[in-house]
Amino acid sequence: MKDTKDIRDQTYLSGSEVQNLNFIKESESYMFRKYYRSGLRSHIFEVLLIKDVHKESQGEIIDGIRLFPRAKPKKIFRILRSRFESKDTIFNEIKKYNILLNALGPDLIAQSQEFVVEYTGTGTRQIVLCGLQEYVEGEILDPWRIFDENYLTNIYQSTPQRESNHCKLAQTAKKNIATFVKKIHIMIKETGYIPDLAGNGNLILTPDGGLKLVDINNIVEIKLDNKILIDDKGYPSCDVSIDVLSILERDILQKDIHIDDPIYKVFLTPKRKKRVKALEKKFYNSLS
Ligand SMILES: Nc1ncnc2c1ncn2[C@@H]1O[C@H](COP(=O)(O)OP(=O)(O)OP(=O)(O)O)[C@@H](O)[C@H]1O
Ligand SMILES: [Mg+2]
Repeated sequence: MKDTKDIRDQTYLSGSEVQNLNFIKESESYMFRKYYRSGLRSHIFEVLLIKDVHKESQGEIIDGIRLFPRAKPKKIFRILRSRFESKDTIFNEIKKYNILLNALGPDLIAQSQEFVVEYTGTGTRQIVLCGLQEYVEGEILDPWRIFDENYLTNIYQSTPQRESNHCKLAQTAKKNIATFVKKIHIMIKETGYIPDLAGNGNLILTPDGGLKLVDINNIVEIKLDNKILIDDKGYPSCDVSIDVLSILERDILQKDIHIDDPIYKVFLTPKRKKRVKALEKKFYNSLS
């Protein structure tokens, strides 16, 4: 037990804001560690088996060689930074997650068990939304770095153990991206909502050629008018998400964009895109 305590002291929930979480029970088997990738809206933790973390730091001997395997998360634990004023607003968030799950299905999103807790760590009572999510292993699909039609092949080529069948994996990924794009278009048409496709790391290509949206909380309503909506962080996530959708279609699926599509017609005009760029710039300046 002493060893376990040592590990906890080094890594357990080290962010100052999330120390002493009253809603997490100590476990003899599991621990939480800040995940190496992060975002703006959520605190992201990996849920690890304590014994795997031991192996990571002390190593294990395999075929006479001491190896230090990285502990693989059993789950991802997400705490949303937003503070909600009422249960209704928080239930509305959970409702939007269910809309997303219905629209895309479990193959295309990192499924999450969303739950609400009362956080008392600041001396007041706050309603906080959390999610215990499936861990998705893989490479980030970065829509801003697709320079040619070999993007997917290059990604799978650089994954060492898959060298032999990287073309096949790239084809599988392309098929999954096509299904993703189709389902997002249907979701937009049928529900009027779009998830956040724009954030860094929101889309992950899995080692077997799958595609998963892991950022499942920032789902926004699309308004077909001239006003560019900015989200709670000041980012034009609706416009940029629609742009990403068109990039997936054009640059990965190599399809012509139907500019007659009501969504693209409103959102992708050069004039509007220029305004969006200006808002993005303002957002990034506000971060520094
Ligand atoms: N279930 C998961 N499996 C693997 N990686 C994940 C998972 N959830 C989140 N991540 C990674 O953690 C990082 C932050 O996640 P995410 O984008 O969901 O956080 P956020 O704070 O809500 O985002 P944003 O800044 O876009 O609002 C991303 O790089 C993402 O790839
Ligand atoms: Mg994100």
